Amino acid sequence: MTADTPAALESRIIRARARLEGFGQGHLLTFWNQLSRPEQLALLQQCEALPLEALPRATEVSMASHRTSTDLAPAEIVPHTPLGSERYRAHGATMIAAGQVACFTVAGGQGTRLGWEGPKGTFAATPVTGKSLFHLFAESILATRRKFGGMVRWYIMTSPLNHDETMRYFDSHDWFELGESTVRLFMQGTLPSLAHDGKILLATPGSIALSPDGHGGAIRALAGSGALEEMRTHGIETLSYFQVDNPLARAVDPLFLGLHAIHPESSAEVSSKVVPKRNASEKVGVFCRRGARTEVVEYSDLPPELAEATRPDGGLLHWAGSIAIHAFSRRFLEGLADGAGQLPLHRALKRVPCVDLSTGAVIEPATPNAIKLEAFIFDAVPLASKPLVYETTRDEEFAPIKNADGDDSPATSRTAQSERGARWLEQCGVPVPRRARDGAAEARIEISPLTALCPEDLGAPASCLGTILPGSTIVL
Ligand code: UD1
Repeated sequence: MTADTPAALESRIIRARARLEGFGQGHLLTFWNQLSRPEQLALLQQCEALPLEALPRATEVSMASHRTSTDLAPAEIVPHTPLGSERYRAHGATMIAAGQVACFTVAGGQGTRLGWEGPKGTFAATPVTGKSLFHLFAESILATRRKFGGMVRWYIMTSPLNHDETMRYFDSHDWFELGESTVRLFMQGTLPSLAHDGKILLATPGSIALSPDGHGGAIRALAGSGALEEMRTHGIETLSYFQVDNPLARAVDPLFLGLHAIHPESSAEVSSKVVPKRNASEKVGVFCRRGARTEVVEYSDLPPELAEATRPDGGLLHWAGSIAIHAFSRRFLEGLADGAGQLPLHRALKRVPCVDLSTGAVIEPATPNAIKLEAFIFDAVPLASKPLVYETTRDEEFAPIKNADGDDSPATSRTAQSERGARWLEQCGVPVPRRARDGAAEARIEISPLTALCPEDLGAPASCLGTILPGSTIVL
């Protein structure tokens, strides 16, 4: 990029100042005259990139969610093992073999709750060998290519906070044999943090307090990075979407893809998987109906009286917990990127270090002082004409790693992975020793996706196993 002439630069500054002032954000240039030229240029660029039109105006900034309301009914769900599942599975297999399916993983989060410093995908997740989440999904994609015969590309969304480290990680692991040109990492955007009066915060006198724009930023990032265009060139029609934190997620599930594509209740735009919530307070979004529309209500937005509401049989009324696995049509995402639907911005109250405008000093707040804004990709669900919601089983597909201890921790996830391996072996006729007390498997079992993507793939390797003794460790 060529440098601006002094006159061109001056007019950029004047335009930026006028735009900021028009939106009540002129304070961002408070320290302009104290900045070096490079600092001024960096701040100017940040200011020009601010999506001021999309931010809530000062008067609208409040923590009250615009989505919280009680006029919600349970969503309609396609039950597990729908009739004709073989036909759907076969259709999904054809889509994969034709190279029409790519994986899409969102991995831009910070893993704060887990207390892991690096990108979450680099976390050691599997129960015996400690493979990382990225490694595990790479094996799953490689195995899918081999089994179905089609190229399955992998798109991974990172954030400015972890992009370079994620890139280095894949590079240093030789792209896990997938081929570098078939894995594309692209960065999501950022949004500014706001004070309660709607004013954007400065992180330093010369820089704005920015944070990742949520996984809903994927739509802009997919379009802006050229990834959607690339998908079209490669004939990719459907994206198999999953979060980086769930090692039981099937990177590509032919049955789900077939349901998405040809089920009579699906417009083949967005489909989603749910499991029954563990209890009313489980931190998962729920699929609900609002009027004629199906939508996901995030756990933080669901009023407790609705989260706890029960049916006459005692089960939770809003039981359909989102496991954040979706199928998206590429065309649908292209339509959203072209402006067919703006995703709303959700607000979270956070502690954000910021500059005191009267002194220029950076304050480390002791309590939450700022509103962070994030878009959620599942807000695309109500924009589809007929979104399909499919119930699956938690034991087979959902054991996320979110917290350092307790529920949804590395320990609970490793146990769930090992238990799934034990069940698969038993389905192939291999007895697994189990504790009388609670039926837990007495062996630690890890099955690589390269060995089996489903129990049916396991027949031959399982037949070579001798007797599994209590306390043993099996890696297949
Ligand atoms: C998320 C879902 C919740 C769902 C649950 C299932 C959201 C807001 N909520 O909850 O409805 O039931 O998972 O496990 O997603 N990420 C980005 N960029 C960002 C923020 C997040 O890529 O700016 C990625 C993270 O890397 C992670 C995923 O999104 O893979 C989920 O983010 P997180 O904020 O941890 O959501 P949860 O509270 O776990």
